[in-house]
Amino acid sequence: MRFEPGKIVSGRYEIKSLIASGGMGRVYLATQIALNRSVAIKILLPHEADPAFRKRFLLEASVSAQLTHRHIVTVHDYGETEDGDLYLAMEYLDGMPLSKAITQALRMAPLRACRISMQICRALRAAHARGVVHRDLKPRNVMLLIDEDDDDDDDGGGDFVKVLDFGLVKVFEAGDQGPGFADFTRVGTLLGSPKYMSPEQIRSQPVGPWSDVYALGAIMFHMLTGRPPFVGATSPEILSQHINKQPPSIQSVLDEGTVVPPELEVIVQKTLEKSVDRRYASMDELLADLRAASRLIAGAGHHASSAFFGPASDGLVDDFVAAFAPPIFALDVDRDDADVRRWNEPAQLGAAMPDLSQGTDPSVTLVRRGPTLELTWHFWLLAVLVVLTAVLAGLLLGRLV
Ligand SMILES: Nc1ncnc2c1ncn2[C@@H]1O[C@H](COP(=O)(O)OP(=O)(O)O)[C@@H](O)[C@H]1O
Ligand SMILES: [Mg+2]
Repeated sequence: MRFEPGKIVSGRYEIKSLIASGGMGRVYLATQIALNRSVAIKILLPHEADPAFRKRFLLEASVSAQLTHRHIVTVHDYGETEDGDLYLAMEYLDGMPLSKAITQALRMAPLRACRISMQICRALRAAHARGVVHRDLKPRNVMLLIDEDDDDDDDGGGDFVKVLDFGLVKVFEAGDQGPGFADFTRVGTLLGSPKYMSPEQIRSQPVGPWSDVYALGAIMFHMLTGRPPFVGATSPEILSQHINKQPPSIQSVLDEGTVVPPELEVIVQKTLEKSVDRRYASMDELLADLRAASRLIAGAGHHASSAFFGPASDGLVDDFVAAFAPPIFALDVDRDDADVRRWNEPAQLGAAMPDLSQGTDPSVTLVRRGPTLELTWHFWLLAVLVVLTAVLAGLLLGRLV
């Protein structure tokens, strides 16, 4: 390894450790010495002394350094080291690549997959607006951070997405034409994974926002099922399926008994259309459909929640019970479907009760219910009755005496 811990790069960054080794280079954790902050430095694979390659890199790096968006990794700096290596210094992301999250989850909950996809859509929409097509969207280029500020408004759900490596693949493509299908076998892994590549990109036809839509569709398929839409023993085998074969339906590759929301099936199939005309034309269109689907899926969960806890009590008996019963804690559920079902099991309420002295799970809001010292109208009714009885008794007694 050429970049041992302690090595100073470009006079500014001290290498700490290797994070990952990919098709286009190596990513290191480093310290930016002047600011004493962690950064991730991507060192591109050594390339033949090709001035055009260097030029393409500097161009692409300058474009990605201008992309500022909360779901796109921030590029701090780029250039050439004293040894002639090309590098990109980025904010260090303390998270997990989506590729690993998919492997861990085996198959992601539909709502989670939907929310991650929506954030990717937003990142790409911003890039497309500036004329930048990603071209190499894949789970390894999506990082998931823990969302500290998650209030589950409409795209939270705990994961905060950052998309990496915008346009970088272009640097490795010879000229403007791209590698082409025939060339791909020659360049091999240089161009990343074929699992998510659009038919037009494989065929060296013009790529655009629609090509990123296709790649995101393939990622969604992978998140929801645990496998990409096309599988094969070799890269050319997978690539030819992208061009020639209809993707299977999500439902058909899932185990029996596992159901994917039909809205998501329709969306994913539309992202994976071979013909650009039939595919979503923009991230905006895809985002609108995903937003509607996520509301439907999340809505199903919320109904289950209110069915158990019911409306606030408004009857006389309920009020008396509420006023004099020992305190209970109603769990205001703010989680995905599976968790809503779990929290709704009455038998588990006690077991699931968080220890209030230790701080609480931030995804669960505790609402304290009763006993209450408020004097309600039936209390006054009782008091009036007592007074009336006393007056009547007094009158009766007065007559008798
Ligand atoms: N800014 C970053 N902060 C933390 N880790 C990163 C960062 N950028 C990349 N990585 C890590 O490096 C991996 C990707 O390495 P990369 O060289 O880009 O491989 P590939 O060419 O397959 O995309 C990511 O999946 C992630 O684990
Ligand atoms: Mg990458």
